[in-house]
Amino acid sequence: MLVAPSILSADFGHLARDVQAVCDGGCDLVHVDVMDGHFVPNLTIGPVVVEAVSKAATKPLDIHLMVENNSFFVDLFAPLKPEFISFHIEEEKHPHRLIQKIRSLGIRPSIVLNPHTLPEAVEFLLEDLDMVLLMSVNPGFGGQTFIPSVIEKAQRLKALIEKRNPACLIEVDGGVNDVNVKALAAAGVDVVVAGSFVYKHPEGINEAISSLK
Ligand code: DX5
Ligand code: ZN
Repeated sequence: MLVAPSILSADFGHLARDVQAVCDGGCDLVHVDVMDGHFVPNLTIGPVVVEAVSKAATKPLDIHLMVENNSFFVDLFAPLKPEFISFHIEEEKHPHRLIQKIRSLGIRPSIVLNPHTLPEAVEFLLEDLDMVLLMSVNPGFGGQTFIPSVIEKAQRLKALIEKRNPACLIEVDGGVNDVNVKALAAAGVDVVVAGSFVYKHPEGINEAISSLK
């Protein structure tokens, strides 16, 4: 299992230290939650702070956009050369066009589905995607409770991926811990995002990441 700690649960007064800690702790990607106060009822960070994250990180960035006007935000973050940019299907009229734009910038494109959105919504985009991110909470905040129906959704998505593009990864984000990760792995999930589980683990960040792996 690949692990992408969400820095939303980091101490923003010591952001570089907390980004370095998850990289040193063996994570695979650094998950960055970008919220605009419109698509979700919360506001986080823009390119100035993400540039600082990028400088502190020794692992690639996994940028999760929770915004209106995706294309504008892709332009803002592209110079930081993240590994992935994920955008929400619920907020994009022309997903295929945006996928092509992200790829043309040398970034791997990914689409996010909210908990209620059917996996079939991306079926005819799969051949152009490197990853699909399934939300297992309603986006906007860290520390929420995992919605178990995402496990069945991951199984359905996995079947579509095997048919259309077996190289496409499945990532799950929200309320992930060392218990539900087992069912996610069995359902075919490749990458888990974890914020509070990693940063607030009583035995520390390294132990949290290795327990998810
Ligand atoms: C929620 C974010 C998540 C969140 C995960 O909108 O997309 O990445 O930070 O945090 P936990 O693991 O605490 O649910
Ligand atoms: Zn996220």
